[in-house]
Amino acid sequence: METILVINGEAYWQDFLPDYKVEQKKIQTTEWLLKDNQLFAIDQNGVCKPDKILWRVGAIKPSAKHKTALDVIQLSGIPCVNSANVLAKGFDRLTMLNVLKECKLPLIPFNVTTTSTHVKNIEMPFPFVVKAGNYHGGFGKVLVENEEKWQDIKDLLFISEDYITIEPFIQYDKDIRYLAIGDKIWAMARKGKFWKANVQTTDFVLIDQEPSLIAQTKTLQNYLKADIVAIDILEEKNGNRYFVEYNDIPGLSGFPNEARIELANCLTRLK
Ligand SMILES: Nc1ncnc2c1ncn2[C@@H]1O[C@H](COP(=O)(O)OP(=O)(O)O)[C@@H](O)[C@H]1O
Ligand SMILES: [Mg+2]
Repeated sequence: METILVINGEAYWQDFLPDYKVEQKKIQTTEWLLKDNQLFAIDQNGVCKPDKILWRVGAIKPSAKHKTALDVIQLSGIPCVNSANVLAKGFDRLTMLNVLKECKLPLIPFNVTTTSTHVKNIEMPFPFVVKAGNYHGGFGKVLVENEEKWQDIKDLLFISEDYITIEPFIQYDKDIRYLAIGDKIWAMARKGKFWKANVQTTDFVLIDQEPSLIAQTKTLQNYLKADIVAIDILEEKNGNRYFVEYNDIPGLSGFPNEARIELANCLTRLK
């Protein structure tokens, strides 16, 4: 029986992969060994020699070591969902935004600086959104509504070593996520308690799919050659749409079980 190693993520994958032995490890505590073209993942629970890998590292602090693990996996040739090559492109937020730009998808226009001491030079009319560094799950993101708050936030940003982007706050009517897995697509609208739809989410509703957004999702998926990818879109009342980001390790909460089954199928199909 082949072994699938799940890195981080949900506890339920064995149920969706009954023909495999599923082992699970955390990226935070796993070391990797590539010896004579054989890949081993090692943590306090022991050694795993995977035949396939399911990479489900979610909203944790990215570290250079995660990127190293992806490079070692790619070197090993062990099939991974998404492929290590796809995951490397999504690893950094700016690289990810470059991919959306290459796919000619309508990004929120943003300014960027590599140091917090220059944020004063990239500010824009209130309200705007500041995003510091390469974090997920809403971390490092703040809505700036007025001069007083901006002063405090600049003082706080001073302690950050990360790059910083500033973009207009989109008064969105809908926060939409299109999820593509294999050749299937789902669409969802999300609502959060405050301005971030993915933090303290109160509502997940599956919505009808629109041909133009399906086409844009497919453009991205094909460009990346991704097994799974989600695109987050903000839609204004007037119908204007902006792409916030894509996520190549999207959470599956709120999506039907078929999404999990389809992701398991992607692994099964891998050679
Ligand atoms: N410029 C913006 N205007 C309005 N809402 C935004 C903007 N940027 C992000 N958001 C909201 O905040 C959420 C999190 O932002 P996002 O950039 O996706 O960060 P993360 O990678 O942490 O999820 C988005 O899903 C959206 O609801
Ligand atoms: Mg997001």
